[in-house]
Amino acid sequence: MLFEARDLSIRFGGVHAVRDVSFAIEEGEVFSIIGPNGAGKTTVFNLISRFYDPDGGTLAFRGEDITSTPAHHVAELGIARTFQNTELFERETVLANLLIGRHVHRRTNLLKDLLFLPAARRQEVAFREKVEEVIDLLHLQSHRRALVGSLPYGARKMVEIARALCTEPRLLLLDEPSSGLNPEETEDLAFWIEDIVADLGVTIVMVEHDMNLVATVSNRVLAMADGSVLATGEPAAIQSHPEVLRAYLGGTDEPPPAVAEAAP
Ligand SMILES: Nc1ncnc2c1ncn2[C@@H]1O[C@H](COP(=O)(O)OP(=O)(O)OP(=O)(O)O)[C@@H](O)[C@H]1O
Ligand SMILES: [Mg+2]
Repeated sequence: MLFEARDLSIRFGGVHAVRDVSFAIEEGEVFSIIGPNGAGKTTVFNLISRFYDPDGGTLAFRGEDITSTPAHHVAELGIARTFQNTELFERETVLANLLIGRHVHRRTNLLKDLLFLPAARRQEVAFREKVEEVIDLLHLQSHRRALVGSLPYGARKMVEIARALCTEPRLLLLDEPSSGLNPEETEDLAFWIEDIVADLGVTIVMVEHDMNLVATVSNRVLAMADGSVLATGEPAAIQSHPEVLRAYLGGTDEPPPAVAEAAP
């Protein structure tokens, strides 16, 4: 077991954003969280990455209880994330944005860095190699010197995934990676996700509204509504689950999942 959430709950005033949510993630899985707007999906991510303290429940990562672990330490332990709205340094190059991930694994102190002692040097070289590996994997070579602000939206989203990968996570949280992408970019994203798991050995938790993408890449799916878990299981079973269908049909601004549509 790589990660486990047990009975997670959090309230914001009168809103019970997440209530008694439990799930466990195996190493090497793509685990998707679906649900209508406001279901509590992003809040689950904010709880996992320790941006919020839960009102109840526990979090465990690689057997270690991280319920009270500070956010920066959770990142050091190997949990990285992307945001529903990309958060990059727009006036910096792609390469600079990727190199920023380095501080997570900095093991040397400032004086050593200034003197550029061998340990710091080795660490710098290893980190540069990691960044190049990620650039190659996600085919970002042609963008490496471009300013992030000048890139099309789809490319920016890939840069954000790349930046998270440069911190060498074991668990990567992707919040709506396909939002704003065109159908072709979304198809590519499915391949990138498979490559990230296969080549980098990273386990992925993905919040996603595109049911074709979810069905294509996920091993298991957790469906939420109104802060609670409706069902957890294989994608096909979740897409045809009566309670899941009811949650989507009951929503006002959300189409029902594409049950009949198979991925091309
Ligand atoms: N910091 C906060 N303060 C107050 N309420 C919040 C906060 N964060 C989330 N909420 C509320 O918690 C509920 C769940 O929000 P959340 O963002 O987790 O939904 P979501 O499933 O990610 O939705 P979407 O698909 O629209 O991104 C919503 O009612 C939201 O308004
Ligand atoms: Mg959200």
